[in-house]
Amino acid sequence: MKVTVFGIGYVGLVQAAVLAEVGHDVCCVDVDAQKVENLKQGIIPIYEPGLTPIVKSNYEEGRLQFTTDAKMAVEFGEIQFIAVGTPPDEDGSADLKYVLAVAETIATHMQDPKIIIDKSTVPVGTGDKVSAKVAETLANRGAEIDYQVVSNPEFLKEGAAVSDCMRPDRIVIGTDSDHVKDVITELYAPFNRNHDRIIFMDIRSAELTKYAANCMLATKISFMNEMANIAEMVGADIEQVRNGIGSDERIGYHFIYPGCGYGGSCFPKDVQALVKTSEQIGYDSKILKAVEAVNDKQKSKLPELIKRHFGDDVAGKTVALWGLSFKPKTDDMREASSRVLMETLWAAGAKVQAFDPEAMEETQRIYGSRTDLALMGTKEAALNGADALVICTEWQSFRAPDFDLIKSELNEAVIFDGRNLYDPQRMADRGFDYYAIGRGL
Ligand code: UGA
Repeated sequence: MKVTVFGIGYVGLVQAAVLAEVGHDVCCVDVDAQKVENLKQGIIPIYEPGLTPIVKSNYEEGRLQFTTDAKMAVEFGEIQFIAVGTPPDEDGSADLKYVLAVAETIATHMQDPKIIIDKSTVPVGTGDKVSAKVAETLANRGAEIDYQVVSNPEFLKEGAAVSDCMRPDRIVIGTDSDHVKDVITELYAPFNRNHDRIIFMDIRSAELTKYAANCMLATKISFMNEMANIAEMVGADIEQVRNGIGSDERIGYHFIYPGCGYGGSCFPKDVQALVKTSEQIGYDSKILKAVEAVNDKQKSKLPELIKRHFGDDVAGKTVALWGLSFKPKTDDMREASSRVLMETLWAAGAKVQAFDPEAMEETQRIYGSRTDLALMGTKEAALNGADALVICTEWQSFRAPDFDLIKSELNEAVIFDGRNLYDPQRMADRGFDYYAIGRGL
């Protein structure tokens, strides 16, 4: 089938690549000419395991193309995906200007019927707005062409995006058209194996499903972080509690890891956006507001522990930081807790020596060169001469470090662990002051 994808970001590029990988012909279009040029040369804008080889091979074999030519791209596919960004507006609601601009572009150039699939995460009711924009643009052209607007939210996780897309848990399709159901079933057939993963529903329910899923997951994390804070104060160990509750199948072990707060481009933005949508319809979402407030507070946890350890005076101290990305297997630093940590420490006069397996360039891009940030080539180099080690991201390579080396490289044997990687008793036996989340102070 011939498919067009508007927006070569995380969602658009991965979706396009896996559709091409199973044999569809895919045309990716973006306004960023540099990005398009780079992709043609095999330079992928994001770090995502398994993505580069499938982008390169499908481009070389002609099933995947990249262009800035919107007219050509609209003509190309019967199916038109909208996968552009929906950044938070100033007030936290999702900004739909890019989504609606694509809707207008499609309607400006289309000559035959199109199925317009919204893959971006958009507030309930956006399907209607996209439909209205297409209708208005067609009317201005004096054209009468059939079109269907569909909601097909994306559930991929960064760091596992390719495998999530190749083997989705579910494929949610919001539509009331039987023709669309047939076309989409054929489009996704290669991914819909073993059992039926396609769930058809109405457009508004599909739009809300996406927010409900992310907000539920964010709620689990904030709930656990709150339990961790309570555990600390009552002298319990949250890791034992986590084990104890996860064994109940109704609760489960997934997404109940306490830590230094959730980040990324999805949870913070989507929780805020649903709070905003609720406000707009006159509903006060107490749970979602609390989820956000608990997370904001949790991101200050490590800097507070560090300040407390050093008697509220960290000026002139150097902190070794392991982990900059918002989670492992990505170089994405959007809303990462490492940023709150570094910015708080800098404001208090401390320096940071940082290492991350993938996010060094991204850190450089965000913060540039500054005297209070040194980007180090290895995790060991980051330790050299520092007064403490802080861990913000649970990269595998941080799980079993050489503790003797850590001790000998640091001025003081103290570790602040925002991801509960080590056993507190063993750390005490090794002679460390070890601070973790919800495990006693
Ligand atoms: C999230 C969802 O997991 C995906 O299902 C969804 O498709 C995606 O958002 C999206 O809307 O596009 P992602 O943002 O890539 O995916 O990252 P997650 O793996 O969900 O992690 C988010 C944050 O939660 C990370 O900072 C992670 O460290 C934190 N986290 C996760 C915890 O603190 N504890 C946990 O138990 C799990």
